[in-house]
Amino acid sequence: MARKTNWFEDAVVYQVYPLSFMDLNNDGVGDIPGIISKLDYIKDLGATAIWFSPLYASPWNDYGYDISDYRAIHPAFGTMEDFDRLVEECKKRGLRVMMDMVLNHTSDQHPWFQAALRDKNSKYRDYYIFRPGRRRGGKLLPPTNWTSCFTGSAWARVEGTDDFYLHLFAPEQPDLNWENPAVRDEVADIMRFWLEKGVSGFRFDVFNVYSKILPLRDDRSLFVTHKGAKYFVDGPRMHEFLRELNDRVLSDFDTFTVGESYMPDPEHAHRYIKRESGELDCIFDFAHLTSDSVLGLKFLPKPFDLMRFRLGLLTPQTRYFRTGWNALVLENHDCPRSVCRFGIDTKRFRYEAATMLAVVTFMGWGTPFIYQGEELGLTNTDFRSVDEMKDPVSHFVYDMMTKQLHLPRGLAFRLIRYGARDHARTPMQWDDGPNGGFNAGAEPWQCVNGAYREINAAQDLQSDRSVYRFYQELLRYRRASETALRGETRLHLPKSRRMIVYSREKDGKRLLVVGNFSAGARTFRMPAGFDPGRMRVALSNYDGSTPAAQMTLRPYEAIVFEA
Ligand code: GLC
Repeated sequence: MARKTNWFEDAVVYQVYPLSFMDLNNDGVGDIPGIISKLDYIKDLGATAIWFSPLYASPWNDYGYDISDYRAIHPAFGTMEDFDRLVEECKKRGLRVMMDMVLNHTSDQHPWFQAALRDKNSKYRDYYIFRPGRRRGGKLLPPTNWTSCFTGSAWARVEGTDDFYLHLFAPEQPDLNWENPAVRDEVADIMRFWLEKGVSGFRFDVFNVYSKILPLRDDRSLFVTHKGAKYFVDGPRMHEFLRELNDRVLSDFDTFTVGESYMPDPEHAHRYIKRESGELDCIFDFAHLTSDSVLGLKFLPKPFDLMRFRLGLLTPQTRYFRTGWNALVLENHDCPRSVCRFGIDTKRFRYEAATMLAVVTFMGWGTPFIYQGEELGLTNTDFRSVDEMKDPVSHFVYDMMTKQLHLPRGLAFRLIRYGARDHARTPMQWDDGPNGGFNAGAEPWQCVNGAYREINAAQDLQSDRSVYRFYQELLRYRRASETALRGETRLHLPKSRRMIVYSREKDGKRLLVVGNFSAGARTFRMPAGFDPGRMRVALSNYDGSTPAAQMTLRPYEAIVFEA
């Protein structure tokens, strides 16, 4: 058993989406040598670990979240030797490596699934969830009425038979049957394989849907989306499965695990991360990122709700304090760019908003996760049509909107463009050269964001108002402050409609974090118990902020006070 050092409590994780990070061999997709060439950039930012979105062999129906070989590197990214060198180069720079574990499903091209399809009696049949369809009035219906998280039925028919298999995501992503101990043996072996290669932790993709309530049955609730969710979210054996992974593998290493949860129930969410549970170190809770969409459906925008953002961001910090750990997140490969959300006036205040969001998010309690390009304040792409978008989900939802709901195409496209995951997946903008410096000119797999001419790393680093340098300063400050790293979070001005204000407190030291979410000047009154005469500004995205009982905050101004 390895001693758990909880190194992640002081860590800053940078997420790399390998397809779009750096294409050194100029074939249109990013690669491992490209990543290695940019490790100093990541290190200099202040990151101490990197989470790589899937680097494994995959037919890329969901760009790597459909794995066809868990022990192989996708040839377009490089070889296993390249990967070993990547780990080595990371180590040299004090960067730990975290892998993405996509274990709810495999690719339909995985040899297990191929064997299961070929032969009903193969042992691999029970690696997946096959069921006979139901005959109703001469029609063959799927085994249950569940919907896939990517639209449509969650069941696909096996060609030439009356059997179906379950896929909670795309049809090319058949769900694994976690009830089968042989599947759990495989999973344990895969994790050990990567840990023995020197990897320090995992991000578990949609982990809380591994366990389904048996026997599978129809969902009779009136919801039209997420049908079946009550039978597959936080299922009955979830906690047992996670504990088993710890007992069998994780406890032999000093790891960090973060689970990506799908609409978790608060009680279960807490149990997953309680230290005494021995399950995960923390989870991503995206409640605050649903504050500008209806029912958390990202393609149904609604006016930004700051209340919801504040609650979503701060509730895990107060709820989990002392019992577990927390993850701080604003962007990832599934979200549009943050400076283009939350009602922000991006054209006029990109720098101010990007830095304010960083302060409000990453001065909280938990491990910061920074998504590539977020540290530059990258913006959404002005896609001209859905054909320019590569994410299958954009197409599924567009088809559903136009063909089933009969929305006009223009409207459907505008909705898709608002919430599309594609915004996060355009090539990194390194400089103003061809394709934003992503490569030497070959056509990228996903079009570049035309804004790269003005917004790119080289330009940002030269600018007086550099988002990257602000992140550096913020992360440097965090690292040096026990209060920022381990202080308790307390909410202030809970009713403010324009500001988020909270404090972090430890051993008599206090920090007060203030962020103005509006494009106008706002009056801020120091909360009770804070004496402006005994405070100083530790960090701000404007010059000349001074503590006072009443202050006028400028557009998207953010301040960290030390009290
Ligand atoms: C997670 C991933 C997302 C993927 C889905 C299915 O939500 O972040 O990119 O499409 O799981 O694996």
